[in-house]
Amino acid sequence: MFSLELTETHELIRQTARDFAQNDVAPTSIERDKEGVFPTDIVKKMGELGFMGMMVSPEWGGSGLDALSYVLAMEEISAVDASVGVVMSVNNSLVNWGLETYGSDYQKQNVLTPLAQGLVHGAFCLSEPEAGSDATQQHTTAVRGDGGWILNGTKNWITNGQTATWYLVMAQTDRELRHRGITCFIIQRPTEGFEPGLKEDKLGIRSSDTCSIGLTNVFVPDSMVLGDVGQGFKIAMESLNGGRIGIASQALGIAKGAFEAALNYSTQRKAFGKPISELQAIQMKLAEMATSVEAARLLVYRAAYLKDQHQNYVKAAAQAKLMASQTAVNVALEAIQVHGGYGYVREYLVERYLRDAKITEIYEGTSEIQHIVIARELLKA
Ligand code: CAA
Repeated sequence: MFSLELTETHELIRQTARDFAQNDVAPTSIERDKEGVFPTDIVKKMGELGFMGMMVSPEWGGSGLDALSYVLAMEEISAVDASVGVVMSVNNSLVNWGLETYGSDYQKQNVLTPLAQGLVHGAFCLSEPEAGSDATQQHTTAVRGDGGWILNGTKNWITNGQTATWYLVMAQTDRELRHRGITCFIIQRPTEGFEPGLKEDKLGIRSSDTCSIGLTNVFVPDSMVLGDVGQGFKIAMESLNGGRIGIASQALGIAKGAFEAALNYSTQRKAFGKPISELQAIQMKLAEMATSVEAARLLVYRAAYLKDQHQNYVKAAAQAKLMASQTAVNVALEAIQVHGGYGYVREYLVERYLRDAKITEIYEGTSEIQHIVIARELLKA
């Protein structure tokens, strides 16, 4: 069962996120996309508003809110700028969640608290040059040293890679145990031998910071192992279940932003002597777009609801991400079509929605991986 009741707190969070997105994010979004500039001041303000630690307990510097609140805020912020959305999503879902669930009190005090307060932000390092969808194939190794571990390897596609302070890094501690021999390490930047590479020149979410990271004899003390030795893959997979709700809400936001742009444009642009919104061809598109955005929204809110109810949300999260990411791409394409030639140039924004939408079908598990996750859950049941 799924009942959708937004409380006054939910409405307030949505309004706060909407105002923040309009007032603080929108004015610089075109320029940041063009230049590929990281939104440093905006991320700082997100921290002040409590958006960087939304679901973390107040005991550890967070806002103590539910997953539905997080989804509502992600949707509003990503509707204006998905690059800002992904910084928030990675910090909340992939970094904070694992630290709060598996961290020691020492780690929660020293690592989680500043992350949840938004004083610094984090990154999640699972992917490698030869371990993308096939994430169990970790080549980064960790071998025992005096009082800790020594890590060597390369991580790829790391969101917040150059700007984060704290990194969760998966590495193979026992190859014979395969995925049960992967461990999660907490690394602070700067650390000797830990070297973020150049920022990737991406199709979309250009203002977010993505890079590879080289690890050469990086020492991590035992106090900075997250969870147990050998528990890293489980931590990564569980974090990604929640992360997929975050990316689904990012995709939903992109779809909503693209749809609203098309709707507004259609009432202003005239052709054949009237606003194009009065043409049936355009009305068909608007009706299709609105329906798919609302359908995706239901799946996304449902996944958040199940998480909040402490029910199994693995399938729901994968379904929400699969549907919302497809919707984002389709709606962004149609929004360009409604704009005609104006949709194809940068000053009208809708082309950015399409470029930003595409990544939601790729990161935190491609659409193909979401199909696998959904099918496995169906067959398990
Ligand atoms: N939740 C919890 N546990 C899971 C899980 C899930 N969704 N999926 C798999 N597991 C567990 C399994 O139970 C199993 O554990 P045990 O053997 O201990 O029981 C273990 O993980 C291995 O699972 P499989 O045997 O099913 O392994 P597989 O190789 O056949 O499939 C996979 C694994 C589902 C394909 C997995 O590799 C996967 O999810 N790949 C996609 C990786 C991904 O999403 N990467 C995103 C990178 S991070 C990112 O993009 C962030 C960003 O920058 C924005």
